[in-house]
Amino acid sequence: MSNILITGGAGYIGSHAGKLLGEAGHRLVTLDNLSKGYAGAVTHGDLVVGDTGDAALVSQLLGDFHIDTILHFAAWTIVPESVAEPLKYYQNNTSNARTLMDCAVRHGVRHFVFSSTAAVYGIEPGAAPKPPPPRRSIPTAAAS
Ligand SMILES: NC(=O)c1ccc[n+]([C@@H]2O[C@H](COP(=O)([O-])OP(=O)(O)OC[C@H]3O[C@@H](n4cnc5c(N)ncnc54)[C@H](O)[C@@H]3O)[C@@H](O)[C@H]2O)c1
Repeated sequence: MSNILITGGAGYIGSHAGKLLGEAGHRLVTLDNLSKGYAGAVTHGDLVVGDTGDAALVSQLLGDFHIDTILHFAAWTIVPESVAEPLKYYQNNTSNARTLMDCAVRHGVRHFVFSSTAAVYGIEPGAAPKPPPPRRSIPTAAAS
């Protein structure tokens, strides 16, 4: 059994992961700032309301709960908002993730699952998928 920190565990994906892992008997702590999530969605383990960008809090949790695994779901996911406010998204999705990873390395956390973009589904109705760009062969042999 693992001691798992689930960031963003009060959100859509993280809460389902927490439910399954809790039912499987793992020890869980969820870190979520509730900017988008719901406390009631955390069904197993402890919920700590806080931010992945708070290095002191993250370090305390990693130590207190003897965390060996992090599942990282804490991010913002609204594509149009990320285009309108790129720095806000950079701060949360990139800088705060970096802080979390830095703490994980310092504490010797051995397993880190990074949930990447949700913007992987869907093609505009009626639009055909773009073909890949043509491959060009570039000569690698010496010219003389
Ligand atoms: N929803 C999907 O279909 C899908 C698919 C593939 C990947 N993902 C990825 O999974 C992750 C979670 O997506 P989701 O759909 O569950 O989003 P969500 O908004 O439902 O959940 C994200 C959770 O993270 C919390 N959060 C955000 N920033 C935080 C921070 N700095 N510190 C602490 N908590 C923070 C929010 O309060 C929220 O509860 C994202 O990285 C997303 O790109 C989602």
